[in-house]
Amino acid sequence: MRLNVAVLANLKRNAPHFEGMPDDAWDDLDSDVTVNAIVAALESAGHRATFLEGALSLVEELPRLRPDICFNICEGHWGDSRESHVPAILEMLRIPYTGSGVLTLALTLDKAMTKRVLRFHGLPTPAFQVFERADEPLDSDLRFPLFVKPSREGTGMGVSGESIVHGRPELRAQLADQLARYRQPILVERFIRGREVTVGLIGNLVEPVAWRVPRDDRAERVFQGLRFLPPLEVDFESYPESEGGVYTNRMKTDWAHDFRYLCPAPVEPALLDEIKWLAAAVFRVTGCADVARVDFRLDADDGNRPYILEVNPLPGLYPGLSDLVLEADAAGLPYDDLINAILTVAHVRAGLKDE
Ligand SMILES: Nc1ncnc2c1ncn2[C@@H]1O[C@H](COP(=O)(O)OP(=O)(O)O)[C@@H](O)[C@H]1O
Ligand SMILES: [Mg+2]
Repeated sequence: MRLNVAVLANLKRNAPHFEGMPDDAWDDLDSDVTVNAIVAALESAGHRATFLEGALSLVEELPRLRPDICFNICEGHWGDSRESHVPAILEMLRIPYTGSGVLTLALTLDKAMTKRVLRFHGLPTPAFQVFERADEPLDSDLRFPLFVKPSREGTGMGVSGESIVHGRPELRAQLADQLARYRQPILVERFIRGREVTVGLIGNLVEPVAWRVPRDDRAERVFQGLRFLPPLEVDFESYPESEGGVYTNRMKTDWAHDFRYLCPAPVEPALLDEIKWLAAAVFRVTGCADVARVDFRLDADDGNRPYILEVNPLPGLYPGLSDLVLEADAAGLPYDDLINAILTVAHVRAGLKDE
């Protein structure tokens, strides 16, 4: 079936400038390389694909283009729910789109809100506290070392070796620095020392449909409808010690072209099963659709116990470089097939196509 697809993204080169903007302000936005690759992938499957910048102009452009579906990767620009803005417009226009909806994109952009949901469902995520001022008292149950990062950014923004803090003076300094730079609540978590893996999934659980941990009546784990990509492990051994054994902004931007990783990650089968199950549970309880990537740390001080750091319902799709793309590649799924797989599951979910 030949579809008319609008590819919606926020390009870095179209991003607005503002007073006091941090130099990494738009690191999570997309490049022409990504958009052109998505357009080409869709065209290679026989679809018509047109790129549109994810802006208010969509309200006029989309009714003219009349797409069957949008391929949405917009990260947005402003506010505490920026990733949900374009999907909200699409819902008002009643146009189907790939990926997660308004509520999920608003929720998961906020790492602390997401962690509250994970905790409610008993899913393992590091203990945490949110700071709106640098001098707020530290919860007595949080022990150093701690990890400091913005609550609503991506692409490792605000994440460097200095995010790991070993005592109160360092914590206060990091908080003051990040609050001033990012002007949003800052998340402080227990630092999980250990390996790091991220796992991508494509599809939608067939059941259960409610936003709960996917188990059937006999409490068996349900995976049906999801395709897991092989986990990718960041090869910290290949990076300077200054990066602190974390996946920093520098590694995700300046050094992205020489990313050092292992995929599939050498994870023993029982642990891999657990990671897949946790990823499916996160996907489900946060209401993700079609595609996501879930980031984990394996606690070296507790037998590699997996902890969920965050879920990315808009994982990067830079050809040949983004984590999800590398995972797909390791699974024998070339870029064009990955893009068309996402389109197909969205198309089926929207009720426009039979499986
Ligand atoms: N609690 C933590 N313990 C150890 N490392 C962490 C922790 N939180 C984040 N990190 C490191 O920082 C990186 C970026 O954090 P993450 O929450 O995934 O944000 P982003 O949206 O920038 O990817 C992670 O990939 C990991 O290396
Ligand atoms: Mg991450």
